[in-house]
Amino acid sequence: MDSQLEQLRAEALAAIAGAADETAVEQARIKYLGQAGALTVLSKGMKDVSKEDKPRIGKLLNDVRNAVTAALDERKAALLADADAAAFAGIDVTLPGTAPRLGSLHPITQLQDRAIQIFRRMGFALADGPDIETEWHCFDALNTPADHPARNEQDTFYLPDGRLLRTHTSTIQIRTMETSAPPIRIIGPGAAYRRDEVDATHLAQFNQMEGLYVAEGVSVADLKGTLEFFFRELFGSDAQFRFRPHFFPFTEPSFEVDIKAAALGSGNATGHATGNATSATGDATNAAKWLEIAGCGMVDPAVFEAINARRGDQAYDPEKYTGFAFGFGLDRLAMIMSGTPDIRYFTQNDERFLAQF
Ligand code: PHE
Repeated sequence: MDSQLEQLRAEALAAIAGAADETAVEQARIKYLGQAGALTVLSKGMKDVSKEDKPRIGKLLNDVRNAVTAALDERKAALLADADAAAFAGIDVTLPGTAPRLGSLHPITQLQDRAIQIFRRMGFALADGPDIETEWHCFDALNTPADHPARNEQDTFYLPDGRLLRTHTSTIQIRTMETSAPPIRIIGPGAAYRRDEVDATHLAQFNQMEGLYVAEGVSVADLKGTLEFFFRELFGSDAQFRFRPHFFPFTEPSFEVDIKAAALGSGNATGHATGNATSATGDATNAAKWLEIAGCGMVDPAVFEAINARRGDQAYDPEKYTGFAFGFGLDRLAMIMSGTPDIRYFTQNDERFLAQF
């Protein structure tokens, strides 16, 4: 039995060392250690071994089993290491990897976020409203009579049920006053829609930001100070301003704001302040020009009256409260600030354009 065991050990170790892959290693395990394997068969002969030989043979049997098991494990590990090495052959794992391409926020979103931050520092809260509006919120409540050109079917998108896509974010003023009593100080950014022919300075959907401050004793001086602070934060402290008398149905007096600032040197788009830009001139720099950037004014008492009627109270008593409102076009501001000559670039999602911001 001793010699049989020694012979088996030698044979098994040689077979394992020569196993070329995992399958061969497994076959060797079955052949020697399996239920019908050679070692298993031999160990059954133990019962015929004499009493005095039993401890020695038993120990030898264990030694052989352990040696074969260890050899199997070792061979398996060696084969795995070889496979790993083969997989990495020719690859320098110390070379730098491929950097992931990071995206960024859309330029209009970036500008909107910046604007919100500046107004937040002045105590303005963020307000919101739906894009699909009632005629009342978009026009009637804003003292805009039924025959006003903005309400023309050719200028506004009407839904079959009579609602419409808001033509300005001034609806957010109305929504806020409906639900909150003064004092209120809010900004409302959002999309606005007009049936404009799409060209370099017009889109049927663009972005505005609205502001409203109603409290006791709010004056034109507050309006000017707030807007001048805001635009100086955006365009630099050298910015000059011009408040030109204008007309909006919902503010009285009303103004358009013009700005002149060195930081505007690279831009070349000009036009209407709060809606789409109306013209783009590619000539001289903006620094030397007055550019319209916002519409604003003191809230017309007729707006307060409309809100009171709707609320069924006197929360917005025009004898007690005054307020200012303003609105500007974010797309137009972004065009001016970046010198973007065509408003359509902002919606085309061309990475070569967007990556510049
Ligand atoms: N809603 C006006 C527009 O779209 C802008 C505006 C807002 C003017 C608030 C005055 C006060 O042109």
